[in-house]
Amino acid sequence: MRFALERRAALASDADVIAFGVPERTESSPNLPRTLTDADRALSGVLGSAWKRGELKGKRKETTLFHRADGHRRVLLVGLGARAAIEVETLRRAAAEAVRALKGRGASSLAFDLPSFLAPGVRPEDAVAALSEGAGLGVYEFRRYRSARESEIETVTIHPGRAASSKLRSAIEHARTFVDAVNWTREIANLPADTATPEHLAEGARKLGRELGLKVTVLDERKLAELHCGGILGVGGGSVHPPRLVIVEYAGRGKAPSTVAVVGKGITFDSGGISIKPALHLADMKFDKSGACAVLGILRAAAMLRVRPRVVGVLACAENLPGGSAYRPGDVVTTYSGKTIEILNTDAEGRVVLADALGYVVDRYKPDTVIDLATLTGACVTALGDDTAGLISTNDALAKGLLAASARTGEPIWRLPLTEFHRELVKSDIADVRNSTEIPPAGALTASAFLETFVGRTTPWAHLDIAGPAWTNGSTRRYQPSYQPVGATAFGVRLVSRYLEDRPR
Ligand code: BES
Ligand code: ZN
Ligand code: ZN
Repeated sequence: MRFALERRAALASDADVIAFGVPERTESSPNLPRTLTDADRALSGVLGSAWKRGELKGKRKETTLFHRADGHRRVLLVGLGARAAIEVETLRRAAAEAVRALKGRGASSLAFDLPSFLAPGVRPEDAVAALSEGAGLGVYEFRRYRSARESEIETVTIHPGRAASSKLRSAIEHARTFVDAVNWTREIANLPADTATPEHLAEGARKLGRELGLKVTVLDERKLAELHCGGILGVGGGSVHPPRLVIVEYAGRGKAPSTVAVVGKGITFDSGGISIKPALHLADMKFDKSGACAVLGILRAAAMLRVRPRVVGVLACAENLPGGSAYRPGDVVTTYSGKTIEILNTDAEGRVVLADALGYVVDRYKPDTVIDLATLTGACVTALGDDTAGLISTNDALAKGLLAASARTGEPIWRLPLTEFHRELVKSDIADVRNSTEIPPAGALTASAFLETFVGRTTPWAHLDIAGPAWTNGSTRRYQPSYQPVGATAFGVRLVSRYLEDRPR
């Protein structure tokens, strides 16, 4: 999608469709909003009559398309809900509603009339970013395997009226980068496991590295064996596609930048292994690589935005299948750090690959901060739902920074506790830790206690369990923000990129 700012009034634009925001009507403001006066005049008063008869209410998710007698430059009205409640996120969603309403309607360009979308609590530059982002994210569909193609919006112009400034230009620039990184990530995360093998993800990282000048290191199964990475090798043992540990480095800016390690679970398919999963929804387990894909997207955004910290991305990629060479319940594996894991359930594989990835990055790169993203537990989905990621951190400043970034990007996260209770539960009778506990409650937290073992207690660390929001299906999508497509959402890409941008020195 192309984005531009244009000085002329939206109504003077030659876009196929011109979009206006409509705040919800209230008892105290029964008249057509003043921001729609010019549009109403251009449409010979039809907006006013639609408003009067209550056809136009300005409710969220309401979109109404008006045609003109000459058939050109249609006008789309997008509901914004109660004016006092309009936030940046409201505009992101409204823009997505707009582009989605226009799918298959023979429109390729869309102009937004900025003044009609503004509200007291929203700065014009944030509104410009939100409209661009919402449109760019909302238009995305995974089309790789589909032959039919519908018309869609390819060009978005924003018409700020009097609010023009250089801040608006950089807001559009920023949104373009976020949209690019997120949709690029979605495209990889949506790939099925026959295509997106661990080596395929490694190749994606190499390509990204060449494009943006990032250093990429791929540890294959031989190198992993040399390094005693028994966790990732165990999990990947049942597949003909061998595991890969991929490291992508962005150097950072200025002298002596701090180092943030961003680690992702990259299970290209999670069958559960010998502890096999039931058939229902099994196809969704191609999305079990979403954390690793998000790490790639974060590196892409971080490099394009030239964020200050040095960023070390680590992708722990393996396919979890049953088979003659698969790891099994009862096995004990030795990880990079030397710590041993008693495998009690081969379906608790994410933490096992992360054990090597976390141990490796902490030892080799001595990061100042570690953040991991993983579709780690069904328990987290039960606790927080499909839209919210769990945040587990023993460092308050880091947790605060991530919560602040979350508030800015609209990707909801919720902090959960990690205590001695959970640490006790992952102790093993015969090894250092066990990968699955004797009693099931608090599964997201015992998983965190397990991961903490491999980060240690000195490096500030945050774990994001993205099992809920990493992807949607036809039914969960209806309750998600309108800019989330069916399939991979790339949850965490904007969140962590924003954290890296805003991170205090
Ligand atoms: N990939 C799954 C977690 C998951 C489940 C993500 C459903 C999204 C939707 C993970 O590897 C897993 O199977 N976890 C188990 C852990 C258990 C065996 C201790 C779980 O959550 O049930
Ligand atoms: Zn699993
Ligand atoms: Zn898994």
